[in-house]
Amino acid sequence: MQPLSILVLHGPNLNLLGQREPGIYGSLTLPEINSLLEEEAVKLQAKTYPVQSNHEGILVDTIHEGLGRYQGVLINAGAYTHTSVALRDAIAAVNLPTVEVHLSNIYRREDFRHHSYIAPVAIGQISGFGVHSYLLGLQALVHFLRKDQV
Ligand code: DQA
Repeated sequence: MQPLSILVLHGPNLNLLGQREPGIYGSLTLPEINSLLEEEAVKLQAKTYPVQSNHEGILVDTIHEGLGRYQGVLINAGAYTHTSVALRDAIAAVNLPTVEVHLSNIYRREDFRHHSYIAPVAIGQISGFGVHSYLLGLQALVHFLRKDQV
């Protein structure tokens, strides 16, 4: 089976994971999350390509450059989830199957976190399971791409 190439996009402030509000986001660092994703990807016969940026335009450029390079996108857009029409439009433009993930349960938090611009262009969203949101999101994306039946 051909390994699937998956772009893993992390938005603003996620570079500070480990020290950033650990009661909400947990104690794992971003490199630790990326290596757990890499291990999970091996089991799924996929390969993950992580990118983190605090800059909306870089995230948009990275999505554009993903066309022809990756088969799917796993994204935690951080705060841009709740603000960025540009990211939403970039995902719609490249039309790569995308799964949205969040470490925290955004629906149990402040009202401004309840709306996601990404959700309508994602195939699904997983929120509230810490690092497992990423791992479950990767599994869901790979199963979707392989059109796996239960
Ligand atoms: C987050 C939730 C967002 O509301 C927040 O701005 C983040 C992280 C999460 O993973 O729980 O930066 O996306």
